[in-house]
Amino acid sequence: MRGKIVAGNWKMNKNLAETEALLTELSAKLPDTTAEVMVAPTFVNLVAAKHSLESSTIEVIAQNMHFAESGAYTGEISADMLLNIGVDTVIIGHSERRAYFGETDEILEKKVKAALAKNMRVMFCFGEELADRKSENHFNVVESQIKNALFSLDASAWSKIVLAYEPVWAIGTGETASAEQAQEMHAFIRKTITDGFDAAIANKVSILYGGSVKPGNASEIFSKPDVDGGLIGGAALVADDFAAIIKAI
Ligand code: 13P
Repeated sequence: MRGKIVAGNWKMNKNLAETEALLTELSAKLPDTTAEVMVAPTFVNLVAAKHSLESSTIEVIAQNMHFAESGAYTGEISADMLLNIGVDTVIIGHSERRAYFGETDEILEKKVKAALAKNMRVMFCFGEELADRKSENHFNVVESQIKNALFSLDASAWSKIVLAYEPVWAIGTGETASAEQAQEMHAFIRKTITDGFDAAIANKVSILYGGSVKPGNASEIFSKPDVDGGLIGGAALVADDFAAIIKAI
């Protein structure tokens, strides 16, 4: 059985007091679930978030990390720094990192390998842009994003990987992929992993959908057989909405 996961990517939102307040409210409203629930606040509030969630099952994860061990990389954060504060899962490859911070497949491959070398868990994000979908190139784009960053991994690495398909045109736009579009792509992703590795690995990896998931559409998207959960942006910043999405899984 693949694990179900609902993760909130807070992006560059919520100051310290707001982080503590949202986590307190979320903990109180957390529905009973067998799914893993994760939140990714900004780096400066990770320690406080860990503190706020000490007696909670909600996991704190990071939005990014650098591939180097340490050194002259002003403004960057290493795997060891995250592990040192008890954060052992990291989002890598978010489309905003690719688009605004020049993160290429090659850089992302390095980051994935650096995290895995420290035994961290990686939530690897990818997804096509609107132009790719309009030109019916979306399967090729997704396939190459996966191949370029993940196909050089050892088969054993896959127990530490979660995939998150986030079509760029659906992020923060209010426009969601239909449940059918999500299922079609998730099945394609699983086939890509089967072809590159094997069916056992492909069937075990959790594939999350991200892009304007809201309380009103979560149940339908999560009902699809190859959708194993969601990576939530805007709706993760509102405790009632995030709790409703967790309930939907
Ligand atoms: P929205 O849910 O705000 O569309 O963001 C999705 C996302 O980018 C999560 O990483």
